[in-house]
Amino acid sequence: NIVPKMERKRYVIIMAAGSGTRMGADRPKQFLELGGKAIIQQTIEVFMEASPGITVITVLPEAFISHWRDYCYKKPFTCPQILVKGGITRFHSVRNALERVPEGALVAVHDGVRPLITPKLVADMFDMAQNIPALIPVTPCVDTMKVLSKRKKEDGTEVLETIPGAVADRSVLYGAQTPQIFHSEILKAAYSQAYDTAFTDDASVVEKYGKSLSYTMGERLNIKITTQDDLVLANAVM
Ligand code: C5P
Repeated sequence: NIVPKMERKRYVIIMAAGSGTRMGADRPKQFLELGGKAIIQQTIEVFMEASPGITVITVLPEAFISHWRDYCYKKPFTCPQILVKGGITRFHSVRNALERVPEGALVAVHDGVRPLITPKLVADMFDMAQNIPALIPVTPCVDTMKVLSKRKKEDGTEVLETIPGAVADRSVLYGAQTPQIFHSEILKAAYSQAYDTAFTDDASVVEKYGKSLSYTMGERLNIKITTQDDLVLANAVM
């Protein structure tokens, strides 16, 4: 008797609890509009298209939860979402959201400010992840990388200086993107570790926990909207 393996149920955690100070706008960048919609609405719609029926968990700054609820009613943007308040760092925000995810599921963690991800990549990654515990999208590094240190001069300005002997071999360097997709029991266990400042993405948390990662090609246009220039670029792409 061959018992078919149960498909894991799909969850996405939309990370949108950052303060977005680098943009210099009047509200965090995830709420700015792109193509007539808030950036996080664009992002959530990609996941709804890629995986209809997916459970969406949106992590927001506490002070913006009612703003976002009002926005969704007014639009109307009718995507059922579990709203969760963020934490002091991205790590703490993810940890809050994981309380709402059961074991035995597939959970994607995606930066709310990456709305240009294609539904095709999301759908393909979810399919792959059924049998892969941790799947990370990466893109090869195209620039030459310099390893530099910052030095403060007497007048208070900063200069960049070479760190002698430190070279970065571009052929082994890749940029990690999101969504990073995990078997939820592994991600939940990894997030029970104590916080470490080296945790800059979910993959680093899972790796520290001792699990190995699998990689797939990401997309060059899947940029993380961080500065005003990124917003110009994203508008052009859309
Ligand atoms: O700060 P960084 O650019 O790494 O943020 C990546 C994503 O994580 C953003 O979408 C941001 O809103 C989110 N974030 C969060 N909670 C924090 C800090 C960042 O959800 N405390």
